[in-house]
Amino acid sequence: MKFDLTEDQLMIQQTAREFAQSEILPTAIQRDIAGEFPSEIVKKLGELGFMGMMVSPEYDGAGLDTISYCLAMIEISKVDASVGVIMSVNNSLVCFGLEKWGSDFIKEKYLKPLARGDKLGAFALSEPEAGSDATQQKTSAVKEGDYWILNGIKNWITNGISADYYIVMAQTDPSKAHKGITAFILEKGWEGFDHGQKEDKLGIRSSDTCSLTFTNVKVPESNVIWEIGSGFKFAMNTLNGGRYGIASQAVGIAEASFEAALKYSKERKAFGTEICNHQAIQFMLADMSIKAEAAKLLTLQAAGLKDAGKTYIKEASMAKLYASKAAVQNALDAIQIHGGYGYVREYQVERFLRDAKVTEIYEGTSEIQKIIIARELTRN
Ligand code: CAA
Repeated sequence: MKFDLTEDQLMIQQTAREFAQSEILPTAIQRDIAGEFPSEIVKKLGELGFMGMMVSPEYDGAGLDTISYCLAMIEISKVDASVGVIMSVNNSLVCFGLEKWGSDFIKEKYLKPLARGDKLGAFALSEPEAGSDATQQKTSAVKEGDYWILNGIKNWITNGISADYYIVMAQTDPSKAHKGITAFILEKGWEGFDHGQKEDKLGIRSSDTCSLTFTNVKVPESNVIWEIGSGFKFAMNTLNGGRYGIASQAVGIAEASFEAALKYSKERKAFGTEICNHQAIQFMLADMSIKAEAAKLLTLQAAGLKDAGKTYIKEASMAKLYASKAAVQNALDAIQIHGGYGYVREYQVERFLRDAKVTEIYEGTSEIQKIIIARELTRN
């Protein structure tokens, strides 16, 4: 594959880098401590066109390619992975699926404000008893007249508190198992639709994650996405796209960890010289730079395949699997190189480790990525 970035892609990367430094970095530590949602930052991301990057201008999006989206995600996540996941869910899991499979009504009413960043989206698939085994949806939707009546609980929903619109998967025909699942779009504030407390998380603390409850929520027929029974296919195809988003988030953390460690190792002296001159540190830096670079190449490969209209299921899973592992390992090594300073908030690398861990869990655990990769490899 060819990896020369175009002028436009370089410009998006530079814009994201400058925005992250000037608008996100100053409050990153404080928001992490307070677990404070970055409302103002998300609003400004919308103004930049970063909340609907790949959505066509016809639906008020920025009309950019997937590589540009990944480059922007990397730069934003390099400074604050909490902002990265908020952006990723809106772009990959919400806008992407609505543009591809939403009706004209859904695109007009929901996609346009989401793509402009005027509204925020969430994607609700996971349940207390349906995480990796996502086919086991217990949330039910029963048809009554022109409405579907939803009942059930969703877990671990990113943007769960701050979102305005929610894509919700529910079982509409249990006799058909996963082929009886349907996707709906719901609005915050509908009667019987509520959210739980913000989860007190290890990392990405500035993003909000919570459960959702549905008690006889009336959803109009017009809010069915795609068609009845296509919800699992919808969720799987949407998640394929989400995975290069999370891979980009992980690349950002892996790069940030490496760069912080390199900088510190050139400043800190031990045994009469800067620690970057000790081979023990040099070997770690070499490994960290390879991991960050390889993760980025895998991620841009998946994005490039999507832009070329080719299949990218295996490559998106490979990128997510590898990049998330690289992020965790690089963050651990960055702490090791910083010694005691790595263990306190001021130097940021402890946050990188806490933020990195979830990239091995959400949008399909590392074990699920291996299943997907192996199935794609052995498919006849
Ligand atoms: N792309 C497209 N279709 C896929 C697919 C993929 N990656 N994976 C499975 N499918 C399709 C299969 O082709 C099959 O279709 P048919 O029934 O038409 O043949 C159907 O889905 C069922 O697939 P399997 O028979 O393989 O089902 P399974 O139960 O053995 O495995 C799974 C399914 C791949 C493990 C799936 O359940 C899965 O991906 N689990 C992980 C769920 C996940 O990623 N959750 C993340 C929650 S969202 C989140 O984290 C967002 C956030 O907040 C940040």
